[in-house]
Amino acid sequence: MSEPSEPWALAAEWLPANDDPERPQMTVATVSASGEPDARTVLLTEFDGQGFYFHTDALSRKAASIVANPAVALAFLWPGFSRQLVVQGRAEVAPAAEIAAAYRSRSPYLQQLAWLNTFEYAQAPDEERRARWAAFAASHPSGFDQPENWIGFLVRPSRMTFWTSDQEAASRRLEYRATSGGWTVAHLPG
Ligand SMILES: Cc1cc2nc3c(=O)[nH]c(=O)nc-3n(C[C@H](O)[C@H](O)[C@H](O)COP(=O)(O)O)c2cc1C
Repeated sequence: MSEPSEPWALAAEWLPANDDPERPQMTVATVSASGEPDARTVLLTEFDGQGFYFHTDALSRKAASIVANPAVALAFLWPGFSRQLVVQGRAEVAPAAEIAAAYRSRSPYLQQLAWLNTFEYAQAPDEERRARWAAFAASHPSGFDQPENWIGFLVRPSRMTFWTSDQEAASRRLEYRATSGGWTVAHLPG
């Protein structure tokens, strides 16, 4: 069986186009400064010839872990368990223009969420949370500016592993590893 010599086109074929409003979910795994692993789901904002971008709160646990240790892993799962893409790489802060464009592309709900994503708000009882949410929306009739704590990360992959199910045979894994001279590719069990 022949396979592409590099993973970019295959990942682009698997992932939705960047302008598709239905954004894929991915698990982002990090390791904290003290070596503790953690994982959570985020939306993939975009994918390009450099890597995978996601956006979050600069004061979040994941942002603190990435600043201390930029090694991350990403895992995407497709509906029906038909495909999985696992990425290892290093995260860096995305360019300011990309971060700003990502904020503008978020729904009004997610733009507002970025403003009210605080420990103080999180402590409030449900009724107060809803009242403050409505009041915040009412006081910003023309939309939301980008909050200071909105940040984005670009994950530059060093390894990408494409898993495909097969009803009539074992599942298939294609692993790409970045080297100084390009990508190596291997077929793996599992
Ligand atoms: C489907 C789904 C999508 C999410 N997308 C994002 C996202 O794009 N960015 C984000 O910061 N948090 C997102 N979250 C919330 C995170 O999973 C997580 O709870 C939050 O970012 C705090 O993570 P941390 O404390 O590990 O930093 C999403 C949660 C779910 C369930």
